[in-house]
Amino acid sequence: MISELQQLEKEALAELAAATLEEQILAVRTKYLGRKGLLTGLLRNIAQVPDTEKPLFGKRCNEVKDILNARIEKALELQSSRKKDEVLQKEKIDVTLPGRFVAYGRIHPVIQVRREICAIFASFGFSVVEGPEVELDYYNFEALNIPKDHPARDMQDTFYIEENIVLRTHTSPVQVRIMEKVKPPVRILSPGRVYRPDSDISHTPMFHQMEGLLVDKGVSLADLKGILTAFLKKVFGDKTTLRFRPSFFPFTEPSAEVDICCVICGGRGCRVCGQSGWLEILGSGMVDPAVFENVGYDPETYSGFAFGLGLERIAMLKYGISDIRLFFENDMRFLKQF
Ligand code: PHE
Repeated sequence: MISELQQLEKEALAELAAATLEEQILAVRTKYLGRKGLLTGLLRNIAQVPDTEKPLFGKRCNEVKDILNARIEKALELQSSRKKDEVLQKEKIDVTLPGRFVAYGRIHPVIQVRREICAIFASFGFSVVEGPEVELDYYNFEALNIPKDHPARDMQDTFYIEENIVLRTHTSPVQVRIMEKVKPPVRILSPGRVYRPDSDISHTPMFHQMEGLLVDKGVSLADLKGILTAFLKKVFGDKTTLRFRPSFFPFTEPSAEVDICCVICGGRGCRVCGQSGWLEILGSGMVDPAVFENVGYDPETYSGFAFGLGLERIAMLKYGISDIRLFFENDMRFLKQF
């Protein structure tokens, strides 16, 4: 029995030395020291040991048990610290490596211009409102004094969704929607996307406009001139010279287009201004009485002015961009510059 015990001890220690994983170590423990383990089995058979050898055998059994337990404990410790080292090794951070570059976003140049203009008009007491891009024919045309089959519809090529539903061709329908809802005084600014089936160096099928509307008692053409002059000087600088040029829009009377002295050539004439020395900036005019009647305002009591401008155009002139399509190609090399 003693020699059996010695053999068992040798084998158990050899198996432990070979066990590296936690499961392997625990398996050795079960195999020898578990309830049905080999050492436990030997001890249970102590009755077969001759009486004279019993004390020694019992003592040796306990010694072997203690030795194995101690070894197992050690092996487990070693194994767990090895595991920790492995994790540390794997998760080691090299603090000398260069940091990872964070790609900052930027505000799109058209949105920058929109914000700038909104801020200027906010300082004049205008509030910002928005309207739908999919619009009823009624608001886009009819209520703005542009009946069906009227030649003025040709001024604005149109995407039709259905017979009476269009992608708005301008932001002017917001004028009507607001006036239907609120009584004067009205002072609003309405930025947003508009759509026309055009595509070339200065047109994209979608572009941005900004509408302005001011209605009150006693508003005159002088107010229109004053506010638009103050606004354009803020955007293009104090020295900017302007020109109000008679024009036609079905929803304003009289109407004027506003030009600024060419920011590229200073008025001498260049390719950008078509040698005229002037750049068209916006359309404007005194709200036509027919529009007031459509929204239930009394044209005898109230008067007002409206204007509309293209945001891409302003951004192009401000930043010297010659092709409008660049705004929508999303080329980072272009967008990064603003
Ligand atoms: N809606 C007109 C356009 O898109 C611009 C405009 C707005 C003109 C308001 C006069 C008054 O061309």
